[in-house]
Amino acid sequence: DGTKLWGGRFVGDTDPIMEKFNASIAYDKRMWDADIRGSKAYAKALKKAKLVTAEEQDKILHGMDQIHDEWAKGVFEVKPGDEDIHTANERRLKELIGEAAGKLHTGRSRNDQVVTDMRLWLRDAISILKGNALQLITTMVERAAVEIDVLFPGYTHMQRAQPIRWSHWILSHAVALSRDVERLQEISRRVNVLPLGSGAIAGTPFNIDREMLRQELAFEDISINSMDATGQRDFIAEFLFWASLCLTHLSKMAEDLMLYSTKEFSFLTLSDAYSTGSSLMPQKKNADSLELIRSKAGRVFGRCAGFLMTLKGLPSTYNKDLQEDKEAMFDCYDTVHAVLQVTTGVMSTLKINPSVMEAALSPDMLATDLAYYLVRKGVPFRDAHGISGKAVFLAESKSIPLNQLTVEDLRTASPLFSSDVSAVWDYSSSVEQYSAPGGTAKSSVAAQVEHMRTWLKKQ
Ligand code: ARG
Repeated sequence: DGTKLWGGRFVGDTDPIMEKFNASIAYDKRMWDADIRGSKAYAKALKKAKLVTAEEQDKILHGMDQIHDEWAKGVFEVKPGDEDIHTANERRLKELIGEAAGKLHTGRSRNDQVVTDMRLWLRDAISILKGNALQLITTMVERAAVEIDVLFPGYTHMQRAQPIRWSHWILSHAVALSRDVERLQEISRRVNVLPLGSGAIAGTPFNIDREMLRQELAFEDISINSMDATGQRDFIAEFLFWASLCLTHLSKMAEDLMLYSTKEFSFLTLSDAYSTGSSLMPQKKNADSLELIRSKAGRVFGRCAGFLMTLKGLPSTYNKDLQEDKEAMFDCYDTVHAVLQVTTGVMSTLKINPSVMEAALSPDMLATDLAYYLVRKGVPFRDAHGISGKAVFLAESKSIPLNQLTVEDLRTASPLFSSDVSAVWDYSSSVEQYSAPGGTAKSSVAAQVEHMRTWLKKQ
């Protein structure tokens, strides 16, 4: 198999099924630009180490620019023997510039090359995802600012709990997403490390200036250990976990929205632009956007779990198993990239029905407030809870709403009730009690909006 870059010691051809099984070009060609950037930087390091002449370096750089053009124009021809993006670009370089191409790989291995390419690619991908996430957060924060006066039922265990502001709900999800952005930044620091100059396992025996490579490729640091640099993929695992967690947050949000958009709730209406119909039932308007957002969390988590399983029990340094990292990385990137944009679309176009939301509030959701009424009259909370619970029982046995109990009724539970208890039955004053930072009072939600705006400005 003398035509292969590694063919010297081989006799006869690779089995065609093995050839296909082994090849990664079908998907790793997405890293063509990163691969070229890495090779151009490496050519300069070779020149500095006097392993190529200035003339050879220029030939390589020029050839790489031509290859760049071909990929950019979509005319680069992948040939049957091209195993991956690294061999494809090198094969093409040889066709374009001849002998000098054979010097480019001096001291370099695909083991340090592939992980350099991935770090370059992921670095850019992360900055795109960060932009997508910030756009979504901005949309949510501004929506929360506009709709701050709308009240609706808050649920715990999916049971009616306490009245809250709609904006409080929106911000609860925006805040979680802001942590995802911060986590992404953390990961980005560990992605942004240069492995090139690590060779296959042992390092480089030539005078390759790794600090110069770092600067050329704008990495923050250089890797500390060549075996670690070529053999570890924890930076990929972290990214896959990040994608899983971020989509877990969005699936929770999608689930709420789906419920709120049902006829039974009717709290909100999804834009037609993010809904689809039924081929059989003409009346249907399905929240497919939300269902897909919810489903993608499972998809990326599968990628994460699958790749960790691949890593588990691998011996040290590079093993071909690691080739599995790329499809997981690309798929998680594509998925999160799409989900963030669709979620931004959904959140910026849905219409809420404030009157339905407020009408859905019911007096039983003020049972806590009834207990607080007694607390303010000096009753220990645990007793107040029990008394309010008795009032709830009484109302239920009389089949009337809690606020229809007379003061006499209430006095059977506690003599401390008097006519001023009527002030409890007001949803607006109920939410306004929660004015401590983080609460659902208007002043507190407005402060949350401001907090998020300030945070966004710093990103
Ligand atoms: N296509 C390979 C990968 O993605 C490149 C590295 C191959 N290295 C090797 N020694 N076979 O992992």
